[in-house]
Amino acid sequence: MSDQKEYTLYNDTVMDHFMNPRNMGDLPEADGVGEVGAAACGDIMKISLKIRDGKIEDARFKTFGCGSAIASSSMATELIKGRTIDEIKNFSNQEVVDALGGLPPVKIHCSVLAEEALKAAIEDYEKKNAAVAK
Ligand code: FES
Repeated sequence: MSDQKEYTLYNDTVMDHFMNPRNMGDLPEADGVGEVGAAACGDIMKISLKIRDGKIEDARFKTFGCGSAIASSSMATELIKGRTIDEIKNFSNQEVVDALGGLPPVKIHCSVLAEEALKAAIEDYEKKNAAVAK
């Protein structure tokens, strides 16, 4: 019964990205990979990026978590394609929430996970690039 109530908290866009997630999986030879966990619930999100000429060429995600986390990572990977590294550094979870048409307050941290995974992937990319430049 309580599960049924939970479902009604999600709008059609969230449900669509949960049921038909975009960009799910890994990227072979990703340029940057970020994996983060939410202390509050134990959910884990991994985002892989392909970066060309300073821009996000492709993105994939793997999320072991709730429906909001899956929808958030699906939407985030859609939103960032074509953006520059600097734009990603300023990326906010609020953009994911807005694009999803809102999330219940107790599920906002799921979108924060997407922001953190993205930024971790950019950090990984920059670390690898700095190592190559040396
Ligand atoms: Fe923790 Fe969704 S409940 S990521």
